Amino acid sequence: MQKVQAVGIDLGTTYSCIAHLNEHGEPVTIPNQEGELSTPSVAMFDGAEVIVGTEALRHAIVNPRNVVQHAKRFLGKSDFRWEIDGRYFTPRDISAFILKKLLSAAEERIGPVESAVITVPAQFSDLQRQETIAAGKQAGLKQVDLINEPVAAALCYVLGSEGMWFAELAEEQRILVYDLGGGTFDLSLVKYQKDEVNVIASGGDLKLGGIDWNSTLQATIAEQFFAEFGVNPANDPESLQYLANEVEQAKRSLTVRPKTTLA
Ligand SMILES: Nc1ncnc2c1ncn2[C@@H]1O[C@H](COP(=O)(O)OP(=O)(O)OP(=O)(O)O)[C@@H](O)[C@H]1O
Ligand SMILES: [Mg+2]
Repeated sequence: MQKVQAVGIDLGTTYSCIAHLNEHGEPVTIPNQEGELSTPSVAMFDGAEVIVGTEALRHAIVNPRNVVQHAKRFLGKSDFRWEIDGRYFTPRDISAFILKKLLSAAEERIGPVESAVITVPAQFSDLQRQETIAAGKQAGLKQVDLINEPVAAALCYVLGSEGMWFAELAEEQRILVYDLGGGTFDLSLVKYQKDEVNVIASGGDLKLGGIDWNSTLQATIAEQFFAEFGVNPANDPESLQYLANEVEQAKRSLTVRPKTTLA
């Protein structure tokens, strides 16, 4: 009989990934069907078909109305829905599609998966946590546990690639975790002990992340474009999505260079 495995899932606002412990107890990230270690948290609807990941992101320029991004930011807003071709999707539904994609990639490589630990920001409310668990169940998981993102980061820092056996040897310590993600900014002080890892203080902003850098850059560029050409790209969904993808690239260029240009 095939062994049923557990996995860990980082369900991010912009990117998600899935990992498992290999036979030596070392954490290993599992690539998706496209061979990528992280999957854009983007869903595209094409008739009855749902496509998640890079293909959905690429398609967003051609048909932005059929694409949903940043669902994690809306998780817990009970009346929030996206309407696509007359069908309605909740943030939980979109999260479930993303989880399904990651789980199917994992199952292809490691066999059936029934349980998962999913990461959530330390500042997520009870409702947001419940919605994350519900999304996992909707994606077909039998058991879903949550771990605070800074706790996962602290464990990674302490245990590194050594695996769980090192937990016995690692010293008690306090770790400051600074996580500026795509959608949330989480600053946490984590206490590591052999049998317990806790967030002892946390702050930050659930609505501050890379996507806010992008929207500020986007607005500035749209304004300049309007001043020069008299057309506002923000008024056309296709142009806006094209600009969004360009801005993401420009932001990444600015990480390594002081200046960049947009095509
Ligand atoms: N080289 C880079 N320079 C600048 N920003 C980058 C670079 N690489 C990635 N980013 C930004 O980092 C963000 C993604 O970070 P990360 O994968 O940690 O977030 P996430 O897990 O999806 O979101 P969250 O944890 O907030 O839910 C995106 O906004 C992306 O644009
Ligand atoms: Mg994250």
